[in-house]
Amino acid sequence: MLTIRQGGMRDCKDLLDVFMSTHWTKKYTTVEQVKSAHRGIAFQKWGWLVAEVKDRVVGEVLFRVEKNPVVGRIGIITDIGVDVRYQKKGIGTKLVAAAESALKDKKASRLVATSPPDVYNFWMKMKWFARGSLMDIEASPSKIPIKNTTKVRTMCLENVTKLPKSMLFSNVAYPGLLAETASAVVDGGRRGELFEFYSEDALVGVGVCADYGDRTAMFVADITVSGAQYFDVIISRIARVALQLKARTVTSTIPSDKVQSYGGRTHWSSRLARNIPITKLI
Ligand SMILES: CC(C)(COP(=O)(O)OP(=O)(O)OC[C@H]1O[C@@H](n2cnc3c(N)ncnc32)[C@H](O)[C@@H]1OP(=O)(O)O)[C@@H](O)C(=O)NCCC(=O)NCCS
Repeated sequence: MLTIRQGGMRDCKDLLDVFMSTHWTKKYTTVEQVKSAHRGIAFQKWGWLVAEVKDRVVGEVLFRVEKNPVVGRIGIITDIGVDVRYQKKGIGTKLVAAAESALKDKKASRLVATSPPDVYNFWMKMKWFARGSLMDIEASPSKIPIKNTTKVRTMCLENVTKLPKSMLFSNVAYPGLLAETASAVVDGGRRGELFEFYSEDALVGVGVCADYGDRTAMFVADITVSGAQYFDVIISRIARVALQLKARTVTSTIPSDKVQSYGGRTHWSSRLARNIPITKLI
């Protein structure tokens, strides 16, 4: 019999098998690695459901909510996996349905996830559909113009132990990316910095820049509604942190329809990202 229930650290032993068959590119080999993937600043315990068959955990789904000024709350499914030996038996369907229901209870009105192309048919069967596309952009950080203004104050966030509320948020940025990149710095041990930006006393933007190795830094920048006029300043300040990280290339992943907000192709080279942004209204 299949049971869908809240996940807990004791499930990580079984989940190692799930991770080894579904996240094979990430090379999980120990239970401790699986445990680490289930804690940290962006992890919400209520957003963890597992599928159990005959006392064995064979799948899981992870999700959370964040605020968006246009649609209110967005529910994000950040991961789903079913042990390859148990796939195509309806377990993924049940996990998605349970996550949707939990996210509805948390008052999310739009759901988003990011699907590899080969899993898109699964999501279509769940009535999730592609919405727009994503671009991977990159530039040399030294080529990003400096935007001087005294109107925007930069605050570097130190000693972060939980996800700052300002980062459980997306407006222009792709949902979930800010939290994920902040977590890579705080929990994942990547070198990097988290920022808030203020104009007078109002929060106008947030961002993260993190070292991803090979002299490449990844950044995520976002603005609050009142910060729209400062987006170029905020992008410039965050992306140029890559210079302090000694990166030769700075990258981000952004919704394709936002490329112009980044200065178009003047400073950035861009290509269509492989993964597909998918969504469902509930
Ligand atoms: C995607 C995944 C969770 C689906 O789990 P599952 O338990 O096999 O899903 P279900 O049995 O409920 O499948 C529902 C339907 O989707 C189809 N489907 C399932 N996986 C599919 C895939 N990878 N590609 C295309 N269709 C798929 C099934 O055939 C089924 O169709 P049907 O109703 O016509 O029979 C599982 O394949 C998996 O863990 N994949 C690897 C991890 C991954 O890529 N996660 C997605 C990250 S966004």
